[in-house]
Amino acid sequence: MRKTRMIIACLLVSISTATLAADNDNRQILTLSGAQRSHVLEEMRALLSGTRDILAALATDDMASVSRYARPLGSGMAHKAEDHLKSVLPREFMQLGMSLHQDFDQIAADAESKKDSKLTLRQLSDAMAKCIACHDAYQIQTTSLPSPVQAKETLINSANEMKHEAHGTQ
Ligand code: HEC
Repeated sequence: MRKTRMIIACLLVSISTATLAADNDNRQILTLSGAQRSHVLEEMRALLSGTRDILAALATDDMASVSRYARPLGSGMAHKAEDHLKSVLPREFMQLGMSLHQDFDQIAADAESKKDSKLTLRQLSDAMAKCIACHDAYQIQTTSLPSPVQAKETLINSANEMKHEAHGTQ
């Protein structure tokens, strides 16, 4: 009887460990060098502060400033980074990024020609759905290896580690 209880207790512990493991970050891992990671995150912070500047300009209906702040977030921004990142980032990631930059091109152009703040707000809201979609799908990790390790391999390794940890608790 006591033995059965012990077994049940062990089972519960291993089930809860497995649940904790499943709660870990399941987003696809992008394995980048330190410099590449810095470059991507720097671009991200520029996207965040640029978006904030656009909102501040919209609040005062200053459509010229909206256009001025949106333009640097457009395709020009992507070309700077593209060459050395294209080979290490997945195609879907690059495409989502490009499509976001094109949204900012459009926002800049329409703010200049149409001067319609409601339209800009709608466009900005649609564009920001892409920030969310990408953040839901990917995370960055750095490696000291010169070339990126396949995300799949990293995932298998960490799954194995978790298995060992789970066994250790029994
Ligand atoms: C194509 C993919 C993609 C798009 C689109 C994207 N991001 Fe990111 N962003 C990332 C990834 C990947 C990270 C790193 C996440 C991690 O490792 O947890 C990140 C991180 C960030 C960070 C943290 C920066 C830091 O210094 O740690 C900010 C802020 C950010 N993004 C803002 C934005 C904003 C604002 C937008 C939209 C206007 C946006 N991002 C669109 C992929 C993207």
